[in-house]
Amino acid sequence: MSDDPRASLIALTPMNPAYQYDPHSVLRPLRERCPVAHDHQAGTFIVTGYAEAHRVLANRRTYRDGAKAEAAAVLIRRQAAQLPPGVPRAEAVSILVLDDPDHARIRRPLQRAFYARVKICRPRVERVIDAALDAIDPAQPFDLMARYCVPIPVHAIAAILGVDGDNLDDFREWSEGVILGLNPFRSPEQTAVLERSRAALQVYFRAQIAERRANPSDDLISDMVALQAEGAEINDAELAINLIALLVGGNLTTTDLIGNGARQLMLNPTERDKLLAQPSLAPALVEEVLRYEGPIDITQRIMADYGEIGGCRVAATQAVTAVLRAANRDPAIYDDAEAFIIDAKRAPHLSFGGGSHICIGAPLARLEGQLALLKLFQRFPGLRMVDAEAKPRWRTLPFFRGLEELLVQA
Ligand code: HEM
Repeated sequence: MSDDPRASLIALTPMNPAYQYDPHSVLRPLRERCPVAHDHQAGTFIVTGYAEAHRVLANRRTYRDGAKAEAAAVLIRRQAAQLPPGVPRAEAVSILVLDDPDHARIRRPLQRAFYARVKICRPRVERVIDAALDAIDPAQPFDLMARYCVPIPVHAIAAILGVDGDNLDDFREWSEGVILGLNPFRSPEQTAVLERSRAALQVYFRAQIAERRANPSDDLISDMVALQAEGAEINDAELAINLIALLVGGNLTTTDLIGNGARQLMLNPTERDKLLAQPSLAPALVEEVLRYEGPIDITQRIMADYGEIGGCRVAATQAVTAVLRAANRDPAIYDDAEAFIIDAKRAPHLSFGGGSHICIGAPLARLEGQLALLKLFQRFPGLRMVDAEAKPRWRTLPFFRGLEELLVQA
């Protein structure tokens, strides 16, 4: 086993100012020194090499339920320990941390209905983006995050779910509360916010499910209720928790995809000009943003069997953290890995994870990212940061990378 006293998951969070400022100043030496290292404090392997991370993610004989991890895997076990007593696991947590057979049973119908909705949602997403652009006064400097990157994903997912007539500010607030569940270092106060938000969303979605059963409509909730009626094995409590996962999973991440992408295009005017000259590069642009500055740092697995990763022996029940951000800049896979080049031919990035848990929202995130970035720069080709020299204000939520604020001038 590769024990590296310098490998620390906590050092890969904003608690480490060097990481917050430039994650790659920390990830690069770690990947070069030891692409599979062990962090004793957090009780996890830390995998920073692309080939090794890819192998972990592709391995379908792994678990996500933290309760299956060894006692030493304190960080991943901490997330599992907070389930309400007496509630079946599949009714208390989303597919994100569920294992088979429940994971496959629930993900199958959800994915079928969700992908079908994404296929037809382009005009709706375009309307959401156009409305956000129309609301901007280009004569004044404005915060691109608040005015553009934040509202687009919440409006888009609400439209798909069929809850866009309701109070979206509540959704955004509850969604940010629930996302605290992914922060293993959260305070007791943050846990209280998390629980309040989760309870509010559960009450809300249970009511919506009942309503669609009585009055079906043209939306994802109605599609899921119809699939239940046709025999899909997913009960209302399971459906509600996974609708919450779609709402939450789709918000902050896609906001950050758009924000990080807009910032890179302003920092790299040659790449912006390539996009404007050739709008068909929008899909390649989004893949490069995801690779170069993706919204999520890590995903985790628990080994089901004894195995080997990058020459390290890993036992059943040990936790493994794949550092997507490090893998995506591995020079063994990518030429010019440290450069943002939207038309480079590159191996697929790992920003959506992989294997059976690969991000279910990826097709929607891609669509929103492509349309939002292209339309933004088509509308405001000269968009620039008000102070390009100022230190970016990154958010402090561990394992997510996005901007608090991005002041721009059209
Ligand atoms: C750029 C935006 C996004 C990024 C970078 C992202 C990233 C990820 C990652 C890394 C995972 C874990 C995959 C793994 O462990 O292998 C994941 C899972 C998931 N994501 Fe996303 N995501 C994004 C957008 C979305 C959207 C738009 C939605 C919903 C509409 C969503 C919903 C989910 C759900 C429900 C899961 C759990 C899937 C499972 O475990 O089966 N995500 N995402």
